[in-house]
Amino acid sequence: MRKLIIANWKMNGNISKIKHDLESYAQNPITNQDNIIFALPYVFLDNASQVQKIYGAQYKISSQDISQFDGFGAYTGEVSGTILSDLGVEYAIVGHSERRKIGETSDVLAKKLELAINNKITPIYCIGESYEDRVENNYLIKLEKELEILFELNQLVSNIIIAYEPIWAIGTGLTPSIAQIDEIMRLIKVTVKKNLPNAYVSTIYGGSVIADNTKDFLESSLVDGLLVGGASLKAEEFIKICSCGQSVMSTT
Ligand code: 13P
Repeated sequence: MRKLIIANWKMNGNISKIKHDLESYAQNPITNQDNIIFALPYVFLDNASQVQKIYGAQYKISSQDISQFDGFGAYTGEVSGTILSDLGVEYAIVGHSERRKIGETSDVLAKKLELAINNKITPIYCIGESYEDRVENNYLIKLEKELEILFELNQLVSNIIIAYEPIWAIGTGLTPSIAQIDEIMRLIKVTVKKNLPNAYVSTIYGGSVIADNTKDFLESSLVDGLLVGGASLKAEEFIKICSCGQSVMSTT
């Protein structure tokens, strides 16, 4: 099974880093693979796409968000699926907790998912509970609720990535146990299978992933990949994560 490794650069990088890192990733057999995806700030997507084309790179490009409005029009500051697709973007993160925190509602996220799919962009839909939800044992209800918006999309979805990112594990160095991750991977797979029987769903984990813990996560047969934040910015560390991803992939 191919394990996905998704780098979420968040609000980081500059043109020379994009050029330098993506050019070297394109020439490295460990990172020049189609299961490796770079989620970059909007402003760098065109540069990334150019490097990808020039080098004929196999890796994929993702945005970190997508507009709730489609096509073109008077929506200052927005970037639509139509525009992303034109840039060669094949994936979009939707519903990251750092965006939910600044006010993205379920209605807005449902629209974003629909427009990503309509524009042939595979959504990387993020769900995750807070520390309070976890300790008060409300986490399953919270996660099921976040999954519910997918079910409206019934006919539309053929391919989707769902990332479990517990909020308390993001950027903290804390990680859930493999048993805790497996519980959620199973919940996602079972719930989505029941409600979207025709969709191909990959379930991935994100939150304080580093080279040293990559193998533990990827060895779970329920974990189809990883969403990596901070560690994806350090080229050496990220290459180690990808390398581990390739070796786990070849043995499962
Ligand atoms: P960190 O890997 O920095 O904890 O971030 C995780 C994340 O939010 C990826 O989307």
